[in-house]
Amino acid sequence: MAIFERDVLENRRRRTAKAFGRQAPTVLIGAGEPIPIPGGLDQTYPFKAHPEYYWLTGSQRSGGVLAYNQQEGWTHFVRPVTPSERLWEGNPDAPEGEDVAGLSEWLTRYAGPEIAVLGSPVPDVKSEEELAVEMRERLDTVRRRKDSAEIELLGRAVKATAAGHARANEVIRPGISERHIQIELEAEMFRQGADAVGYGTIVGVGSHAAVLHFEPGDRIVNTDDLVLIDAGGAISGYTADVTRTYPAEDRFTPRQQAIYDIVLAAEAEGISKCRVGTEWHDVHRAAAAVLAQGLRDLGILKGEVEGLLDSGAIALFFPHGIGHMTGLGVRDVGGHAPGRGEVQPCCGVRVRIDFPLEENFLMTVEPGIYFVPAILDDPAKRERFRDSVDWKSLDDWRSVGGVRIEDNVLITASGPRVITEEIPK
Ligand code: GLY
Ligand code: MN
Ligand code: MN
Repeated sequence: MAIFERDVLENRRRRTAKAFGRQAPTVLIGAGEPIPIPGGLDQTYPFKAHPEYYWLTGSQRSGGVLAYNQQEGWTHFVRPVTPSERLWEGNPDAPEGEDVAGLSEWLTRYAGPEIAVLGSPVPDVKSEEELAVEMRERLDTVRRRKDSAEIELLGRAVKATAAGHARANEVIRPGISERHIQIELEAEMFRQGADAVGYGTIVGVGSHAAVLHFEPGDRIVNTDDLVLIDAGGAISGYTADVTRTYPAEDRFTPRQQAIYDIVLAAEAEGISKCRVGTEWHDVHRAAAAVLAQGLRDLGILKGEVEGLLDSGAIALFFPHGIGHMTGLGVRDVGGHAPGRGEVQPCCGVRVRIDFPLEENFLMTVEPGIYFVPAILDDPAKRERFRDSVDWKSLDDWRSVGGVRIEDNVLITASGPRVITEEIPK
């Protein structure tokens, strides 16, 4: 069954061709090939088509190539279904198109001397890398704006995600394990329509909440533990990316509450900045300023807020970017605006994204405060930030572990729209 209607794909291709411009070379966009599992004989890792290919074709089948040149427009080459596939996999969805065996003849006939390969590499085709970088930047500018078909899929992914988080919230109690919470959460997401998890579910109890991409294990929730859950259900490749931090029982301890309130205020500040034209680095800085002020008020950080941001002291507790694009995969598109070069650090961290916001961008906003031993016990950092932290009173806070709150925000002409707001926090 087609994931995207024909007119959705035609619209995407039309806008992409326009962005490629009148001087465009021949562009090939490869789906990619399954990756063998080392030592696994004929087994492969689960295959996902390259998102550039999937977005323009709606196909998750390997081996395909979408070809473009100005003279011919778009031609979709696909790998025909084999008898062996019918035996082992049933009837895989194969998109309509030309047999990929005809690609080399098409190239001989239509391609000029220079070809830009996007998506995954195409066997036996040499890509002009500078051209490919430029064409990818042009494609990115089109892909960043979510269209209505994507927003509809994301709405369904959010519903499944909300159900999963609600179930997790129900089952969290002292004595339950991270694994048990993960099982209940994921099962509920699948029950409510998810066809995959969008990324490895994070359930971190106590100090595990301070491990940014923690994988759940057998740790048991104790009475005074926080539980950090970062989970998203996916539908047809589109995923929500949501974090909530819950107390073990009905309420937070006073210290947990103090940290939670700061993170919540930082999130609200970040979200309020999610407007057309705002630089993403300014969203990061605005949220980081709230975190720094809050930690200063608690007596953990010392000095002026601006100085704590410029020196990177805030990154001792907020060591990641404020968010990223999400949607088609948990890390959708990203990068920097054309001509900006490498993404520059901001407030002591490498914020992945460097562009101003536009209408229909979908961003995560996910501030956090973490007490990470690997950072706080690093002698070089303790020396460098000797005067910015009250290192003694900090010890009273470490058992909080970590708090992150993450929502997904659609940028609209009338301001930020939090598409995950139904998930309580
Ligand atoms: N789920 C990983 C992240 O928030 O980026
Ligand atoms: Mn997340
Ligand atoms: Mn995220």
